Order: sequence, then C-alpha cells, then structure tokens
Amino acid sequence: MTNTDRLPILALISGGGSNLQSLIDAVEEGRINAVISAVISNRPSAYGLQRAQIHGIASDVIDHRHYSGRHEFEKALRDRIETYSPALVLMAGFMRVLTEEFVACYEGRLLNIHPSLLPDFRGLHTHNRAIDAGVQVHGCSVHFATSDLDSGPVILQASVSVLPIDDAESLAARVLEKEHIIYPLAVKWFCEGRLRLHQNAAELDGKSLAEPLQLESLNKELL
Ligand code: GRF
Repeated sequence: MTNTDRLPILALISGGGSNLQSLIDAVEEGRINAVISAVISNRPSAYGLQRAQIHGIASDVIDHRHYSGRHEFEKALRDRIETYSPALVLMAGFMRVLTEEFVACYEGRLLNIHPSLLPDFRGLHTHNRAIDAGVQVHGCSVHFATSDLDSGPVILQASVSVLPIDDAESLAARVLEKEHIIYPLAVKWFCEGRLRLHQNAAELDGKSLAEPLQLESLNKELL
C-alpha cells in the first residue's frame, strides 16, 4: 500500500493511549489501510503523546485549561485538526465532552471507544458501576460519536464476564484487552469504505446495524 491510497486518520487522546497504541500497531502491521496523520491531546502529560513520538507521528497539545471556555477550546482544537484534513477522527481515551457544534463538523467520521456495553453505563466510572450493579456481563463499544455523550449508533461490542473476585481494576484490564481488538477492527472497516453512518444508523457492507455487532459472533470474513 502506498501512502496515497491510505486514509488520513487522526486520534484525540487525554491519557495513556493504549487504544492509540493498538491503532498504531494495526496501521504499522498493515491491518488498517490508513496513515495516522496526527495525535492531539488536551493534556500535555498524556503518555499517548510519547507513543506518537516514538512512532514518528505528529503530536500536538491543545490544552483545554488555556482557553476561557468550551467553545474557545473546541475552536482551537478544530483549527488544529483541520491542518491535517483527516478523513476520520478517533477519540481514543479522549476525556472531554464535545459540543453538538463540534460533533456536527465530523458527523459520520468521528468514532469513540467506550468501556461499557452501551447503552448501559454511559459516562464515567463504568467498571465500578457495573460491579456495583451486579451485572454478570460487561464490555466495550465502538460507536459513531454524536452530541449526546456516549449515545451515537453503536457499531461493534465485545463482552467479558464479571468475576466474583473482580474489582474495577481487574475488570477494566480485561475490558481494555477487548477494546484493543474492536477499535482497530471498526477503523479497518471504515478505511475499507465498508462502514458508514447513514440516516442515524451504523451501516456495514450496505446493511444497517439494527443491533451492534458482537465480536464473539462475528462472521470470519469480517475479522
Ligand atoms: C479506556 O477504557 C477507554 O475506553 C476510555 O479510557 C480508557 C483509557 O484509554 N475512554 P487509553 O488507554 O488512554 O486508550
């Protein structure tokens, strides 16, 4: 594959960047036909920035604390994103809630990975909440991002059993392993032109996903 036929994608991070790393690995191993044009973090201390630098990927910081408000921050973020003209923007552990105006700019080309089986446990502290709720099965979801937090059309999910000995940390670690599988897979489909947002629903290979796909029951040709 030459760089010319690879889709330019851009990652937004806030922290460790393990999902970013899984995307970097998938691109470098040729599993995703894309080039990661840049990684932008709202936190200067995010280790994900070092991951980008190690892999020769442009990295920027748009520190939300330097702006008077959400709109000013998002204007600066959008201006920086647009310097890279990405075809797809990936929130990968990005911890800022984005306004409707921002999301509308990237409708259909903004994905997010969330550590729960949406629509359950939107928002933060999902692993604690799952354990407190006594659910037997927990997991993660890749979805098109919309202005409602963690509420866009879900594309693909993966599940883990909640074990009696689990605490939030042990459960998070198992969910994270699944995140690192499903996010690159959904991005692969998007970069192959197989996945799109159509009439407010996720569509794969021309078929609208009435329910999210489940990693555990995917047809082989989708892997
Ligand atoms: C992950 O659980 C992700 O789903 C959530 O933040 C956690 C850390 O992500 N949004 P990463 O290691 O920074 O990719």
